[in-house]
Amino acid sequence: MDEDWLREEIWPRFSRVLKRDEIYLANHSLGRPPDRAAEDVRAALDAWYEDMDGAWSTWIEGREKFRLLTGRLVGAPKNLIIPKTSAGQGLRAVLNSFTRKPRVVMSDGEFDSIDFILRVYREQGRIELKIEHWRELDPRGADLVVLSTVMFRSGEVVSELPKRIMEAHAAGALVLLDVYHHAGVLPLDLTALKADFAVGGSYKYTRGGPGACWLYVRPGLVDTLRTPDTGWFAKKDMFTYARPEPPEFAAGGDAWLESTPPVLAPIQALAGLELTLELGVERIREHNLEQKKLLVSLLPPLAGEGTDAGAFVTLKHRGAQVLAGALRERKVKADARGDYLRLCPDILNPRADLEAAAIKLKSLL
Ligand SMILES: Cc1ncc(COP(=O)(O)O)c(C=O)c1O
Repeated sequence: MDEDWLREEIWPRFSRVLKRDEIYLANHSLGRPPDRAAEDVRAALDAWYEDMDGAWSTWIEGREKFRLLTGRLVGAPKNLIIPKTSAGQGLRAVLNSFTRKPRVVMSDGEFDSIDFILRVYREQGRIELKIEHWRELDPRGADLVVLSTVMFRSGEVVSELPKRIMEAHAAGALVLLDVYHHAGVLPLDLTALKADFAVGGSYKYTRGGPGACWLYVRPGLVDTLRTPDTGWFAKKDMFTYARPEPPEFAAGGDAWLESTPPVLAPIQALAGLELTLELGVERIREHNLEQKKLLVSLLPPLAGEGTDAGAFVTLKHRGAQVLAGALRERKVKADARGDYLRLCPDILNPRADLEAAAIKLKSLL
């Protein structure tokens, strides 16, 4: 997957976004969409105009394909991938499924949405919460461990993940993984990891835009835990409109569906997911590692070029936000989280982009 091949085979599929006059290195934040994403959404809307409620079959087919492809990406059967509009929505469905007040341990590196939800739940007396550094996360006494597998600020890949999950299980805790910076970047097999829950979404590495997120619930829990975050799409035989007592849930992951869902978001995400699977996460990673290595060789204060980091490199700097702003003025799109400036090259960045960005950043340091 070298630059010549990408230029010929892949870049033409991104003709619209590649017209932009900038060096885009915020691929870890909002992924660049393939042209087909707009065409797919257009077709899904056309179906509404042309078929009215006949469009539901197109929309549900799109949702099911989204579940299938996401499952392929993360090592899970389709039915266990439950579409959600955000990672946070997935987390809340899990938190609300506990019948007693759960004791939760989360890492201090969780993304703001996850962190905020958990601290608000704590403030409202709905959970007990301990916050610890991911390396020191102690599952003893917890019902649920919440852990990102790649840290969103620093890009660190959490080491010894299988062991951490095993230890949490041995301590009697369930584990929810946030794989937002992992899925599509590094190989992932949720089944082999024996994760209990996972959340992720499409708007970064799989180029699907906001709103197309998902929750994974493992076999064995998916049919026994019942979340009150529900609605008629979670009912058994929803179209019979029956109202048995007690309420009866659909089988498997469908029991975690909710009310009438947004229909365009999963369809918007299909082209990016298909491309990710077509290229293969291993090959994408290989290419990304080469790009990260080049960036760090051009600008040694950057960190995160190795396999122990996700897709982006970082510069730890007190003025990270200011640097991101100054880069933007110079037509280099990066971003900053806390003290970390983040630069994420991807398959659409030629070597010349990285060289030019490194020169511009160097001039600011
Ligand atoms: C690690 C991680 N989790 C979750 C999210 C998004 O959370 P939500 O979908 O709840 O807004 C992000 C977005 O940047 C993220 O980086």
